[in-house]
Amino acid sequence: MTQPSFAIMGCGRLGTALGKHLVKAGYPLAGLTGKSESSIEESARIIATDPVRGLPPWEITRKADVVFITTPDGIISEACKTLTDHNGFKKNAVVLHCSGAHPSTILSSARQGAGALIGSMHPLQSFASKDLPGNPFMGIIVSVEGSDEAVKIASAMAAGLGARVLPIRTEAKTMYHASAVAASNYLVTLFDLAIRLMKTAGVSSEEAFGVLKPLVEGTLSNIENVGIPQALTGPIARGDTQTVEGHIEAMKSLTPELIPLYTILGSYTIDIARAKGGVSEEALDKLIRILRAPPATLTD
Ligand SMILES: NC(=O)c1ccc[n+]([C@@H]2O[C@H](COP(=O)([O-])OP(=O)(O)OC[C@H]3O[C@@H](n4cnc5c(N)ncnc54)[C@H](OP(=O)(O)O)[C@@H]3O)[C@@H](O)[C@H]2O)c1
Repeated sequence: MTQPSFAIMGCGRLGTALGKHLVKAGYPLAGLTGKSESSIEESARIIATDPVRGLPPWEITRKADVVFITTPDGIISEACKTLTDHNGFKKNAVVLHCSGAHPSTILSSARQGAGALIGSMHPLQSFASKDLPGNPFMGIIVSVEGSDEAVKIASAMAAGLGARVLPIRTEAKTMYHASAVAASNYLVTLFDLAIRLMKTAGVSSEEAFGVLKPLVEGTLSNIENVGIPQALTGPIARGDTQTVEGHIEAMKSLTPELIPLYTILGSYTIDIARAKGGVSEEALDKLIRILRAPPATLTD
């Protein structure tokens, strides 16, 4: 079966990686377009193709069976409309964006104005530069949604990149992204909290990561093996009110600014401890009083 050709509009970190690895997977590149010439040329070098000079973007995208719009999120809709207004999509073209935050409907101008099949294809991966070592798509999750035909083609391309395909509903896209933000970005926030607390115990920031990492890896492995709530250990899971009170008391003098975050996480953790079982309702009620007290009371 012949592979569909593709064009990239937006030669940044993701667009370039996508171009390089789709070409390696055997998909013919119809062309690259973007904002600055220098950026397009740099991407062409990485992808090992010739940059086409002097053509407007729509002349390039019109040649492709599949058009990826990999501009920054805030520009996708406008870029798509510009291409549509200039007849930049061939008949039955598939138009995809790769944003995690937005559904495929932000490409509606292409469906309405050019009859294109629209979808999104979001790699759950961090592309920190245009040319990462190895294949950054290998084994990662790529979520796909949109019209049936767009999903079929996006799924085949994602699989060709070596990724695992996760189809999701268009309406669910925002919550899917919120989940990814919670797991990835807020883990960074959680580590920041833990490292700041560790520093008050006299452990340097550099050492703190190494001290906490095995603990976190063990917890991750417990979540994988026994699931939530069984993976929960520690003072709240034991109903140990004195220890939790002791943490808050110590934080009052050393890190009062961290108390609200610590207590809101602890407060949420009470519900997990209740689901796990084994702690008396009396202890849980006391923990609720300790952790759900207004921050002003805690820092008095
Ligand atoms: N990077 C990641 O980790 C990652 C992960 C998953 C999904 N994504 C998604 O991938 C998409 C691209 O993100 P990115 O991180 O690759 O962004 P990026 O590195 O900032 O690249 C964006 C590219 O778009 C070009 N551009 C800007 N305005 C344009 C316009 N009006 N017309 C054509 N091209 C334009 C820029 O050109 P210049 O180079 O000339 O400025 C740049 O090359 C976003 O939807 C993002 O949510 C990114």
